[in-house]
This record gives sequence, structure tokens and C-alpha cells, in this order.
Amino acid sequence: MKIIRSIRKMQQVSRQIAADGKKIGLVPTMGYLHYGHLSLIKKARKFSDVVITTIFVNPTQFGPNDDLNKYPRDEKGDIKKVFDAGGDIVFIPKADHIYPKNYQTYVNVEKITKTFEGTSRPGHFKGVTTIVSKLFNITRPDVAVFGLKDYQQAMVIKTMTSDLDYPVKIIVAPTVREKDGLAMSSRNKYFTTEQRQKAVCLYKALKVAKGEVKKGELDTGKIKRIMRRKIVEICPSAKIDYIAFTDFLSLKPVNKISKDCICSLAARLFGVRLIDNMKMK
Ligand code: PAF
Repeated sequence: MKIIRSIRKMQQVSRQIAADGKKIGLVPTMGYLHYGHLSLIKKARKFSDVVITTIFVNPTQFGPNDDLNKYPRDEKGDIKKVFDAGGDIVFIPKADHIYPKNYQTYVNVEKITKTFEGTSRPGHFKGVTTIVSKLFNITRPDVAVFGLKDYQQAMVIKTMTSDLDYPVKIIVAPTVREKDGLAMSSRNKYFTTEQRQKAVCLYKALKVAKGEVKKGELDTGKIKRIMRRKIVEICPSAKIDYIAFTDFLSLKPVNKISKDCICSLAARLFGVRLIDNMKMK
């Protein structure tokens, strides 16, 4: 069990692990870990000999109106959770080491970053692909695990990995949910008890959509209207950002439900922006 803070040291250790013929699994996180992250560590363990979890609140993926400064942090608790979950190494770099003065190189995926989260959070994916690409260079993983909750992010990272020929297998792990269905997220901690109960509205809307599809409804426009009603019924003050039905791989919007269709949605609830998604068939 190791905690590494230096980029050079992490590079040396990764090279040594590879030289010993061992496979590296990477789980990049921004910390404040919950069971969803721990499930990614357990998944990585299945595909690798050494699991590296990174904890880094990446400033370049936050916009000016995002919650960078109040993003929750708990380094001590996180380290314990990682090791309890079977992680081997925690890499915790400093922001000014990752982005030193005069830093000016970014990685940008073009088309699939131009919709949904990309439209709502300009520059967000450029920050994500830049940090993930740097973490790949520092830790040299054989596999890297990302959650399906951030579905567009997972597809953007898959595209970057393939386009830039990184020899890394990307694994997308299922969303872990609270008992009532709310997708686990570090941001859930911002809610009061009463707000938290209402935050389940996104999950309920996705379930309603799935129910409509089961009944034979294929028109995504009609389903979206039903979903909006559900969200507002549970949380009248919700500000829906988007509800989208897209092809799973290409992220192209679809008008009719098909086998490979996923529904994604984002909304601001009591000032907290949440996203969720569900495959429809
Ligand atoms: O999903 C996240 O927590 C972040 O976007 C990631 C992948 C760790 C990059 O900072």
C-alpha cells in the first residue's frame, strides 16, 4: 500500500511494475469517494495486478460557474477507503505540479464533446481529456475504469484513447445507486435531507421512460414530455438542462427508441447539478 504525491516517483513506480510483468489498472477520481468509486477499484482489480487510484480535483474541467472551490474533499478518509477496497497505490498530485506556471498543452476531442454536457459546460471535456491523458502518461495503465454515470465522459475518453493510440483498455462500469435509486455522486452531499428525497426525481423519470418503452412507446418526444412531468411532480423547482435519447456509441440523437438507445438527462436541483442515464432496452 503506497501513497505517492510526486509525478516523477509515480512514473518510476509504474515503469517498475510493468518491468516486473504486472498489469496496471487505473481508477482516476476527484476524491470524496463513495461506494460507486470503490466499485470501480474492485472492477480494476479483476483486470490487473496493481490498482492505482488517483485523487485530483482537476481545475481545468470546472467552468467559472462550477463548484471547484466548494468541491468536497476528504483526503484522509479517501486513502482509507481505497485501501479497504483493495487498492494498492493512491496517487495524489498537487495542482501546481500537474499544471505548472506557463502550462499550455491541452487534449481536445472534437465532435462528441459538442453536445449535452459539452454544451452545458463549455471547456469541461477539454479539461477531462487533458487530465486523463496526463494520468495515462504518468501511470501507464493497461486498463482504466470509468463509471457509466458519466456516460458521455466515458465515450469521450474511449474516443481519445483510440484516436491517440494509448495502449489502454477502457472499461465502463455500471452506475451504483442509493437504495431509492439516486445515482451515487460526491455532489449528493450538498443536499439537505428534504432536498435529498426529491433528488430521486431523475432516477424516477428514467424509470418512467423505461416503463413507457416496455409498454411499446417508441416516440422519444412523447417520452421526454412524460419524463419532464415526472421530474416537476417530485421536485417542482428542478431546472432541467436536457433530456436526450441517443445512440449509445455515436451519441447521435434518435427520434425512435432502438436497441442501442440510452436516455441521459441533467438538471439543477436546489443549485446542485446532477446527471444520470439509463439504457432503454
Ligand atoms: O469523473 C471524474 O471524477 C473526473 O472527470 C475524472 C475522470 C477523474 C477526471 O478528472
